[in-house]
Amino acid sequence: MEYQAKELFAKHNVPLTAGTVAETPEEARAAAEALGGRVVVKAQVKAGGRGKAGGVKLAADPDEAASKAAEILGMDIKGHTVRRVLVVPAVDIAEEYYFSFLVDRANRSYLCIASVEGGVEIEEVARTNPDAVATVPVDPVTGVDEAKAREIVAAAKFPAELADQAVDMVGKLWNCFVGEDATLVEVNPLGRLSGNRLDALDGKVSVDENADFRHSEHEKYADRSADDPLEAAAKEKNLNYVKLDGAVGIIGNGAGLVMSTLDVVAYAGDALSSGDGGGVKPANFLDIGGGASAEVMANGLEIVLGDAGVKAVFVNVFGGITACDEVANGIVSAFRLLAERGDRVTKPLVVRLDGNNADEGHRILDEANLSGVERVDTMDGAARRAAELAAAN
Ligand SMILES: Nc1ncnc2c1ncn2[C@@H]1O[C@H](COP(=O)(O)OP(=O)(O)O)[C@@H](O)[C@H]1O
Ligand SMILES: [Mg+2]
Repeated sequence: MEYQAKELFAKHNVPLTAGTVAETPEEARAAAEALGGRVVVKAQVKAGGRGKAGGVKLAADPDEAASKAAEILGMDIKGHTVRRVLVVPAVDIAEEYYFSFLVDRANRSYLCIASVEGGVEIEEVARTNPDAVATVPVDPVTGVDEAKAREIVAAAKFPAELADQAVDMVGKLWNCFVGEDATLVEVNPLGRLSGNRLDALDGKVSVDENADFRHSEHEKYADRSADDPLEAAAKEKNLNYVKLDGAVGIIGNGAGLVMSTLDVVAYAGDALSSGDGGGVKPANFLDIGGGASAEVMANGLEIVLGDAGVKAVFVNVFGGITACDEVANGIVSAFRLLAERGDRVTKPLVVRLDGNNADEGHRILDEANLSGVERVDTMDGAARRAAELAAAN
């Protein structure tokens, strides 16, 4: 959220006008009183375009700050309910610029995007007048030194009289980007205020959760309520689960195998619907890892079956170090565990076991004769069958 991004900006000395977070109209009134003068009341949600949605409002005095806050709190902006507002001094803006650093995955690099035509229409500018938007690659090894910052400022065509200030700002935003292990640092607008002062008027930061171990201080920014509930439940059980939107639940062992499984299921679903793009698709990514125990299998099944969109499940296991008989036993015990938890499995399951001790695994599954479980011994065949079952349900 903006106020959190600004907290990170402040840590790296990025120039900005500080404000106060309020959760009630009364708190907004008190904040406006303390700040004095005109204020802007700004919805704090993880979505852009708050201004256009009516979530950014000017208030002339504390009473008005309270009434604007009352209007904004509880508002829905692009599916996000506003629970707090930021009250900031209203400033005179001469010009609005755009600035960001981000990860450029395609080029295995960083990218800086900057424009003197920032503000709420930046997407429109990028579409209709791309020349007004500078994109400057940043080498991840050398990063941004003063020369690079000058190159960026020149490419963005920031006014000459602001160049030194802009170079300083770019350096500080770079420190924030690298120092916080961010994947995005965005300022829009970067305001040119009266007196030729640059000020980060809005901010957005995405941090890379792979670097969480370096940033215990980021924990306070985690918003569990905004997480997908299934992903949150999976995280609690230490499962590598990513929710997708399809109908075929996927469980596999090993990230590579699961990724390929998503592909073959998407392909099978597409083929079923004669390639019109409307076929059934994978409902999730779930890697239960090597050496998955019955309990892990039960937890995985519970999460996948808890997805209302799932119509059939494809369990795709390649026995490497973990032998298939152990996995088969895991599936059988998982069914028993789930029944004991009162979660009897009612959706069809297609199981493909291959690799180490596959024959014994097949024998165990056949003997258990679990209702709704079908064994298909090739990956493509199993994907096809799972897609069929999902499409029919
Ligand atoms: N402190 C402020 N004083 C005056 N105007 C502001 C202030 N903060 C934002 N604005 C104006 O409101 C617009 C939208 O605010 P912004 O924070 O960028 O929200 P969003 O990008 O979500 O619409 C800005 O482009 C700017 O024109
Ligand atoms: Mg903005």
